[in-house]
Amino acid sequence: MVKLSDPITIRDVVFKNRLGFPPMLSFSSNRNGAPTSGSLRIYEDKARGGAGLITYENTNPDPPLVISASMAHIGTEKEVRKYKKLTDKIHEYHAKIGMQMGYGGIIALMFSGFMNMQMITSGPSVLDPVEATSAQSSMVPGFADRLKKLGSGIHELNIEEIAEIEEKLAQGAVRVKDAGFDYIDIHSGHGMLFSAFLSRFYNRRSDEYGGTVENRCRFLVETIGKMRKAVGEKFPIFVRFSADELLDDANNIKDGIEIAQILEKGGADCLDITQGIIIRSPDGIEVPTYVDHGGYIHFAEAIKEVVNIPVIGVGRIIDPRMADKFIQQGKADIIYMGRQLLCDPETPNKYFSGRIDEIKYCIGCLQGCRNGVCIYDDYSGAKYQELKPSIELKKIVILGAGVAGMEAGRVAKLRGHEVEIYEKSNKIGGLIPLVASEYKKEDFMNIVKYLEHQLNKLGVPIHLNRDLTREQIDGLKPDILVLATGSDATIPVNLKDKANVINQDEAILKTKPLGKNLIVWGLDTYWRGGSETAITLDSQGYNVKALVGPELGTAQILRGDGDSGRSYGIFKELTERNIPIYTEAKLLDVNDNTVKFLDKNKKEVSIQADNLIYCGARITNAKRLKEQFEGAAPEIVLIGDCKKPQDIGVAMRDAQTFARSLK
Ligand SMILES: Cc1cc2nc3c(=O)[nH]c(=O)nc-3n(C[C@H](O)[C@H](O)[C@H](O)COP(=O)(O)OP(=O)(O)OC[C@H]3O[C@@H](n4cnc5c(N)ncnc54)[C@H](O)[C@@H]3O)c2cc1C
Ligand SMILES: Cc1cc2nc3c(=O)[nH]c(=O)nc-3n(C[C@H](O)[C@H](O)[C@H](O)COP(=O)(O)O)c2cc1C
Repeated sequence: MVKLSDPITIRDVVFKNRLGFPPMLSFSSNRNGAPTSGSLRIYEDKARGGAGLITYENTNPDPPLVISASMAHIGTEKEVRKYKKLTDKIHEYHAKIGMQMGYGGIIALMFSGFMNMQMITSGPSVLDPVEATSAQSSMVPGFADRLKKLGSGIHELNIEEIAEIEEKLAQGAVRVKDAGFDYIDIHSGHGMLFSAFLSRFYNRRSDEYGGTVENRCRFLVETIGKMRKAVGEKFPIFVRFSADELLDDANNIKDGIEIAQILEKGGADCLDITQGIIIRSPDGIEVPTYVDHGGYIHFAEAIKEVVNIPVIGVGRIIDPRMADKFIQQGKADIIYMGRQLLCDPETPNKYFSGRIDEIKYCIGCLQGCRNGVCIYDDYSGAKYQELKPSIELKKIVILGAGVAGMEAGRVAKLRGHEVEIYEKSNKIGGLIPLVASEYKKEDFMNIVKYLEHQLNKLGVPIHLNRDLTREQIDGLKPDILVLATGSDATIPVNLKDKANVINQDEAILKTKPLGKNLIVWGLDTYWRGGSETAITLDSQGYNVKALVGPELGTAQILRGDGDSGRSYGIFKELTERNIPIYTEAKLLDVNDNTVKFLDKNKKEVSIQADNLIYCGARITNAKRLKEQFEGAAPEIVLIGDCKKPQDIGVAMRDAQTFARSLK
């Protein structure tokens, strides 16, 4: 039986194991599209961590139309030399590195919707740009209007232009090979140009490049053929494509199976099976926690049944034991782990050497992931900074065992300081157990388990049920007192005496009685925290409606940029659950069983509700504590929500910034 640790040979290239890092935009290139020292760090991390194959993020064969900082390309010999340094480094670890090459096409309409730039992008057919970007157009306020106002659209490629692009890609592949890459991966998924040709939704052509699946594959197959001629017989050509677009009106796995068979015949050496279209179904690409672990592997499995070339599976696979099982069950030949290797690049080494307990697991938040940086560690990926021992060793007392307090303790201890953590409640993790009890957010507990494990290993004591008095702190004589005591949920002053108005924490934890009919007020808090609270309560059988206050203007419920997959997941849940949302609403009054407000048309609306759940701003308890503990230590530092209630990423960054600044 084949295992994850077994090598695999594709054409002349031997990959030392079957655990790979997929192409993931890091935006770490310089303004000329070449890799930087940041890029090198991101990819070297993965090689050092033991991945058998690493696919460099999507790269243009020539300088892209929109030259913006950090968009990778390999358009000239100058970039080739820079990439060569990177590939040489990766080879020192006996890992193989490929480059993903693709043409953007329709997905460039995102520049219009988000960045207000007029775009005429290339595609197989002319299509209404709003329809073409239905995910963002429906969920991001103002997106569709901007597309229309700017007159952005799709230009239908003619036959000469198709041939020109094929040639460019073939020449680009030669540069990829010259730069020392071991294989090329043609990006034909997610709404890229080839993907649009493969798609029966985007491709409405009636010439030999449209209509039947075979015709829709023609552009890609011709490109593979030209590339093969250009790069010779030994160099593997992978194709990544969306085997299912996760939409009723677009390609489904039946199309995917046909496409796979045609690509195999057309000369592809390995099929990298992904799903979704970033502008129509981004939850197949930026996979939110609403999707089960390994929830898309059946697509790879279905393809593997019909082809004789290796197949790659991907999508929310974070546990290498699951990856190994998929390989052993024959569901895929190679497994890609994306965000998991951003979170812990050492995952392969740890698994293959039996140190599974040491693995730091991705929480699936999609809040970081850029610059190859994970929410766990703002000093990782492209922003990596080595941790050095401190010179002036201090006694540090930390109040609060939330993520901020625990991370500060971990890093300070690693740098040699004496650290103790005092936690008022009977548990560690602060808000995280509450967050993780929300709808399908249980993976958020991974961060607490990791910090607990590290602190135990380092021997940092965490004293539970300890609400220290001033005298007790004086007795400990700390050099530095860290307040990582978090925040409290609030209720607006004018509603405080209303028994049926409760805060977000009380609603999630059910520490106050809840009626059947609920109104959730405020959806935009804490990375969609309010939206996820509404979904959580709906999933528990409550009858939920939502109000969004006028202060949000055009109702920025879902921003959808940078984490499209999670935003879209929330949008889908809110829509499919039919949770009514009243935007730009102004609350007027709350009575025993009615909530009265002005809707966006300034019309008074009364809704029957047993409770109003306020999901607005939280407040820090720092002011009171600072006064209470003033003078208890030469230095008093505030971190995380205690400094300013925000999110996990900020709390972790605050903690590290403090611990790294110690001399
Ligand atoms: C419903 C909800 C959903 C959220 N969803 C997300 C999300 O999806 N993504 C995201 O990034 N963020 C989210 N957040 C925000 C995130 O949970 C917080 O920003 C983060 O957990 C803050 O960590 P912290 O360590 O600073 O504070 P906390 O987690 O609040 O920890 C503070 C700790 O200090 C303890 N403490 C208090 N006073 C004392 C004292 N005097 N002495 C000792 N200990 C004390 C507390 O008991 C607690 O354990 C969400 C928040 C909520 C409420
Ligand atoms: C930040 C980010 C950037 C990505 N960039 C690319 C890309 O350049 N090319 C591509 O084919 N897929 C891209 N993807 C998709 C990933 O390759 C992968 O399929 C996805 O993250 C699911 O795998 P995971 O759950 O293991 O992270 C990206 C995903 C994320 C989250």
